[in-house]
Amino acid sequence: MRLLDIITKKRDGFVLTDLEINTLIHAYTNDEIPDYQMAAWLMSVYFQGMTIEETATLTMAMANSGNMMDLTAVPGIKVDKHSTGGVADTTTLILAPLIAAAGVPIAKMSGRGLGFTGGTLDKLDAIAGIKTTLSQSEFISILQKHNVAVIGQSIDIAPADGKIYALRDVTATVESIPLIASSIMSKKIAAGANKILLDVKVGKGAFMKKMEDAIKLAETMVHIGQLVGRETRAIVSSMDEPLGQAIGNSLEVQEAINILSGRGEESLRHVSLFLGAHMLHMARAVPNITVGYETLTKLLDNKIALAKFKEFILAQGGNANIIDNPNLLPQAKIKVKVVSTDRGFVQMVDAAKIGNCAMRLGAGREYKGQKIDLAAGIMLEQRVGDFVEKGQLLCTIYANDERHVKEVQALLLDAIKIGSDKVSKTKLVLGTVDIQGFQAI
Ligand code: URA
Ligand code: CA
Repeated sequence: MRLLDIITKKRDGFVLTDLEINTLIHAYTNDEIPDYQMAAWLMSVYFQGMTIEETATLTMAMANSGNMMDLTAVPGIKVDKHSTGGVADTTTLILAPLIAAAGVPIAKMSGRGLGFTGGTLDKLDAIAGIKTTLSQSEFISILQKHNVAVIGQSIDIAPADGKIYALRDVTATVESIPLIASSIMSKKIAAGANKILLDVKVGKGAFMKKMEDAIKLAETMVHIGQLVGRETRAIVSSMDEPLGQAIGNSLEVQEAINILSGRGEESLRHVSLFLGAHMLHMARAVPNITVGYETLTKLLDNKIALAKFKEFILAQGGNANIIDNPNLLPQAKIKVKVVSTDRGFVQMVDAAKIGNCAMRLGAGREYKGQKIDLAAGIMLEQRVGDFVEKGQLLCTIYANDERHVKEVQALLLDAIKIGSDKVSKTKLVLGTVDIQGFQAI
């Protein structure tokens, strides 16, 4: 089989066979095809698309390119969750202990932040000593003992995806639904959980700007899960405005502690509970979503999930004293208040702009491998629909490096629009997708 024929066939809009897809992925992973040929194939997929069967084959070819985690030694139905990326999206730090506290094993594989979107591994780095580079046996042993373990995405999990993603990034082929869906699902499948819950974000601060694209992506991933025998469900949720109050690694750990203490921001709490209720339902631990939501609400309010968070931190070698004393987390030297220059209703809190501000302050990376400032970030005090007086606090900047503070102050005033029109709160959860399709909420 000539690789040139596979490229030509896709370029002309034909459907590839399993053998052709497997051959291509295998060859690329083993450095047997040059980047320019793979790039040409990716661009062909970008324009011609793939059938769901081709997409599932691509997913499994990438999943099988490295280590497939085997979690059968852990009893019960293991669940994993994944967000397509957002701003102030601290749900994993809340859900990991919360789901475990409900008795369901949560085997979570997490990544680092990319661009203005945060990543769980960076947030966990704010907890001194915590170890997320674990061997498969360490991961399983922690999971067996505590029902929760979080592992960093290692190079031997779906290495084909790592290589292809890097190429997509520089060849304008990221924004393709079959390529995104197979990329995400290959890693989730290789990570070993039985059930996968996806949080597909839509809006200004998300990969998908349009609802129809978010639904299409969610449906594609759910369908892949079905074809390869891993039950997958998706939530479509809004990322027009940041989900929680805190943007920045140390600040987000503090916010998670707040929520796990039964306090904290309502929107982040609600989305976490909603996602969690679906995870419990998928694990057959509750008869329906309502009971799941109520079960988890109790575990937040009686602080059992908080105790689980402490247990999880200790199990992975971290300093659990941060729970009772969050001042032990990295602290910023500079705190600057940003106040409203107008009186009126908050019309918009632009998640992409706010995320970029946090990145400028050092909370995220502008290029791969950049060192981040764990203490830097932004605390938002207002949400869309709130009424503010002139001079009222909109948000606080946390920084260690003075250089970008003035600039960020101006950018934040541009990101938070105040006007006289009364506006309603952002609808957070927009719908769910299972094998029956999209259902609006
Ligand atoms: N996240 C991924 O893991 N892959 C993509 O292609 C896009 C987002
Ligand atoms: Ca307010």
